[in-house]
Amino acid sequence: MDKEVLVDVQNLTHQFQLTKRTAIRAVDNISFQIYKGEILGLVGESGSGKSTAARCLMNIYEPSSGSVRYHGIDICDKKQFRANKKMLQTRRQIIFQDSGSSLNQRMKASEIIAEPMKISHMTPPRGSYRAEAQFQMKYVGLDQSFLDRYPSELSGGQRQRIAIARALSMEPEFLVADEPVAALDVSIQAQVINLFKHLQKEHGFTFLFIAHDLAMVEYLCDRVGVMYHGKLVELAPAGELFSNPLHGYTRSLLSAIPIPDPVRERQRKLQVYDGADLGDGRFTEVCPGHFVWRAQKGGDMHEEA
Ligand SMILES: Nc1ncnc2c1ncn2[C@@H]1O[C@H](COP(=O)(O)OP(=O)(O)O)[C@@H](O)[C@H]1O
Ligand SMILES: [Mg+2]
Repeated sequence: MDKEVLVDVQNLTHQFQLTKRTAIRAVDNISFQIYKGEILGLVGESGSGKSTAARCLMNIYEPSSGSVRYHGIDICDKKQFRANKKMLQTRRQIIFQDSGSSLNQRMKASEIIAEPMKISHMTPPRGSYRAEAQFQMKYVGLDQSFLDRYPSELSGGQRQRIAIARALSMEPEFLVADEPVAALDVSIQAQVINLFKHLQKEHGFTFLFIAHDLAMVEYLCDRVGVMYHGKLVELAPAGELFSNPLHGYTRSLLSAIPIPDPVRERQRKLQVYDGADLGDGRFTEVCPGHFVWRAQKGGDMHEEA
């Protein structure tokens, strides 16, 4: 059975214009699809363009070129965006690394969680907004006694879970989480990752999960994309990517993961990737579902033309 494409990204590029003459190409001509119901991970070192790509997918940034389709709707087309604005704003939600720290300080947890529902005039399925907040709160593993607390009365981990509950209260069809646990204690990170896994299984929402922790991505994601200097250099099912990494940058990332076996750990060699093969090239499907950025030599380019 063919998988249904929810998000279709084609040749997406985003440049930040720094001065009249200089621009940074934060996202450089990337193409990929996100299938309905899957968890797609996006990894890559800091500055590789993950957040910028995610923001283009969520209409926070307007891409310099390329297209993003959601349910076939070209969301970068102003007319199509306007015609579907309500659907796009309610069905898609995003959580940032610091979502917890930017909660409205003057609102109680219960009000914060229910606010997006109120704004979009959603009828609370459980009778009242407070009941809804209570339900979501329990869902993210927070005690009811937190309902009337203000953000300043909560820990960083608790605040981030409030932010997650707030995003989930909209029962999104598509959730983007941009390093949602990076700022949390390691012990709470695992708890929140387990929560995501559980929630996604239960609700089957489509999930774009951005992280730089590879172990987390391997545990959580169905497929994984690797970004380097604005380019998507590899994309494959998680198991395949981790057992058979093809791109030099992916290999260097994986070689940096410590091995629990002390003997093998002592023999572990770091692989260095110098980016030399990043010039002209093409994102190529080398075996079913496994894409890799392949440099092209002059001759190949001619054959393709
Ligand atoms: N608002 C901005 N203005 C200018 N440059 C930016 C801005 N946001 C990001 N960049 C630059 O774009 C590149 C990609 O950044 P980002 O998408 O945040 O990467 P990541 O999320 O993978 O760390 C980096 O070089 C970063 O410095
Ligand atoms: Mg980022």
